[in-house]
Amino acid sequence: MSINYSERIPNNVDLSSNKALQRALEHWQPAFLQWWSEMGPDKSQTSEVYLRTAVSVDPKGWAHFGHVKMPDYRWGIFLAPPESDRRINFGAHKGEAAWQEVPGEYRSTLRRIIVTQGDTEPASVEQQRHLGLTCPSLYDLRNLFQVNVEEGRHLWAMVYLLHAHFGRDGRDEGEALLERRSGDADNPRILTAFNEKTPDWLSFFMFTFITDRDGKFQLSALAESGFDPLSRTCRFMLTEEAHHLFVGESGVARMIQRTCELMVEHKTEDPAKLRALGAIDLPTIQRYLNFHFSVTSDLYGAEVSSNAANFYANGLKGRHDETKLDDDHQLHGSEYPVMDVVADRIVDKHAPALSTLNERLRDDWIADVASGITRWNRVPEKLGVGFRFSLPHKGFNRRIGVFTGYHVSPQGKVLSEADWTHMHGQWLPSNDDRQFVQSLMGRVVEPGKFASYIAPPTIGINRQPVDFEYVRFA
Ligand SMILES: [Fe+2]
Ligand SMILES: [Fe+2]
Repeated sequence: MSINYSERIPNNVDLSSNKALQRALEHWQPAFLQWWSEMGPDKSQTSEVYLRTAVSVDPKGWAHFGHVKMPDYRWGIFLAPPESDRRINFGAHKGEAAWQEVPGEYRSTLRRIIVTQGDTEPASVEQQRHLGLTCPSLYDLRNLFQVNVEEGRHLWAMVYLLHAHFGRDGRDEGEALLERRSGDADNPRILTAFNEKTPDWLSFFMFTFITDRDGKFQLSALAESGFDPLSRTCRFMLTEEAHHLFVGESGVARMIQRTCELMVEHKTEDPAKLRALGAIDLPTIQRYLNFHFSVTSDLYGAEVSSNAANFYANGLKGRHDETKLDDDHQLHGSEYPVMDVVADRIVDKHAPALSTLNERLRDDWIADVASGITRWNRVPEKLGVGFRFSLPHKGFNRRIGVFTGYHVSPQGKVLSEADWTHMHGQWLPSNDDRQFVQSLMGRVVEPGKFASYIAPPTIGINRQPVDFEYVRFA
């Protein structure tokens, strides 16, 4: 499964054997590059960046590292190797051979699923477009750009499926994916969280820790799909996604580390003093966590959803780790716990497992976020600082599902409008918080130097030294 880099579009799908498809994608390629030059990393097109590029889809050692100008990055089409005799593992078609072509009756649903996933990829590049101008170090700048080029490749992954399997409609969707813009009033990206701003590096790290993790769980559910090309595409994307999660988790951990070091050194917990020292106080980091966690929670959709039930019953989208789960993979008659609000109290109830698959995927994601928070908390613990991070209640600051229209505290209490008005500034980033974080956003590009609010990493990328010249400016 090595990748052919001698063609205009690197691929491991034998693209040259399908001339019509190859031509269609070669026609889309300049439009993608035009989008990249308009909406990709600002003022960074001529910089040489120490990027990894996939050279094989083999789980071990697929990456090659070298300095590349981002517009010259070899975006391409990489699918995980086929599993021989792969079967559909769940739903009404369980046990049948996985589909190599789109079944006619699921065509529009599958197209919608692929477009919705595909739309998030360029959206995040657009959201992160200006961050390179305020990077806290060359190391972090390189990580931002690595995430950006790979989100661009994830767009390629989805556009390939659209072109290869959805004919004229698919090509139209491929064009529309380059036309929508994150945050645009007239032509926004499809999902709300992908229209939010990512204005500073704390937001960027929270986004990659939390929202890219939503990506991981969506891809994981789609990797189970009975539509085999989608499954194989998502399996390879997941290997790239792991680095994005690392960038976010370690980025926030390094901010926590820096703040805790100053708390110990100056024997203070006072946010104002820590801010004066150029660090981000831990309660502000907690508020950013609350914000990103609640906004991303909404991406999973309503707790009870007939769409989710249909996706599953029809074999289009499975559960996280579907194939490893030990049950009948049909879910008829089984139940799953969900929350509800009854007379201003949050109650637990049970609902059919089939219609609560959004909630189940959200719960899997929450457990994964929570283990990251546990790892963050080792930082203050090690340094003897008493502060601990925690996740807010599921119902906190939600806009979709049963909690819509209620105000729920991070502890899970339903609040009156007045109480929410008094209290929410303690729980969500205030304008003052955001302005303060923004005020720290300088630009540090001397190799081995780091901004005041973040500790250096313990090791560099690809075992390079921390003061390696990860980005060379033209
Ligand atoms: Fe992605
Ligand atoms: Fe990602």
